[in-house]
Amino acid sequence: MTGIHRASGGALAQSVRIVEVGPRDGLQNEKGIVPLAAKLALIEGLVAAGLQTIEAGSFVAPRWVPQMAGTDRVVAHFRAGAGVEMPVLVPNLRGLELAKAAGARTVAVFAAATESFARANLNASRQDSLARFADVAAGARAYGMRVRGYVSCAVHCPYEGWVEPGVAAELAASLADMGCYEVSMCDTTGAASPGRAEAMAKAAITAIPMEQVAVHFHDTFGQALVNTLTCLELGVSVVDSSVSGLGGCPYSPGAAGNLATEDLVYMLEGLGIATGIDLDALAAAGRQISDVLGRRPASRAALALAARGPANAPRKDHLSN
Ligand code: HMG
Ligand code: MG
Repeated sequence: MTGIHRASGGALAQSVRIVEVGPRDGLQNEKGIVPLAAKLALIEGLVAAGLQTIEAGSFVAPRWVPQMAGTDRVVAHFRAGAGVEMPVLVPNLRGLELAKAAGARTVAVFAAATESFARANLNASRQDSLARFADVAAGARAYGMRVRGYVSCAVHCPYEGWVEPGVAAELAASLADMGCYEVSMCDTTGAASPGRAEAMAKAAITAIPMEQVAVHFHDTFGQALVNTLTCLELGVSVVDSSVSGLGGCPYSPGAAGNLATEDLVYMLEGLGIATGIDLDALAAAGRQISDVLGRRPASRAALALAARGPANAPRKDHLSN
């Protein structure tokens, strides 16, 4: 794939596919239950902004993550589809059956690179959870569903510290072997900076084909955008992000939200990389859910656009390069 060459020497892809995880990763850690109508409005806003892949929720145990109860109604609402892929997280065969009954067409399995995180997040050993995910993946494929994979703690674990890139990459290969069409390499705690992000991504693209690698950065130390750019320069072209920078994992204490989708889109536009996303419409969707949650968007781009207002906004063609 050819693309813009930056001074650093990295060749960037001409287009990047964004996997919007706001309705799932973004909301799962919210203490107050977000009303169904607000979740539907959020997804509608994201579809209107042009997002093509939107993670809609999770079929996990409601006692573990109460916010995700009701994902069946979210999926059922969008069942007719708008040509948009809406993966849902599934931890076991029970979740798979519930996802199928609701009408989901894509599921995501989420393995952990460390033993402690597997136990905290899935109440199972790393090996047992991987065996469960193999069953889920096989079952999903038998139903004709697509399966996405996550490697949590691909850089750093809240309980065990830094993770060897080779360990995370090996897990990515196991998920690809199960039939995952894509594996998202996650900096769950948001501890990575570009050197660690680069090592993690280099190991991943050695283990599985480049086009199957996605990256997923949390922004705890304000490094998510630069980490993402580092991976794009290695040739990665799929990025997870969350509108308004919402997010966090209940089992990763202290982790901040995900990379904000608005910030990602602004950067990609500036680099001349196509996303197919209307930044103003995206920022509006972010403001709407932030209002529901009673807080300001965490996205710097969204705040800057709001401060300028439509009349003073720079023309889009002035944003390139
Ligand atoms: P467990 O307690 O060992 O499960 O949890 P269990 O099989 O003993 O079942 C306990 C109860 O849950 C039973 O109900 C089951 O029926 C029910 P009861 O009989 O007591 O009323 N149950 C379910 N209900 C609905 N859907 C299901 C389901 N499974 C069991 N699928 C389990 C094991 C895996 C279920 C639990 O640990 C769990 O749900 N974990 C998910 C945790 C989670 O969602 N974490 C956040 C997402 S991961 C993340 O954020 C990281 C990511 O963003 C990437 C990154 O940044 O790293 C993806
Ligand atoms: Mg996450």
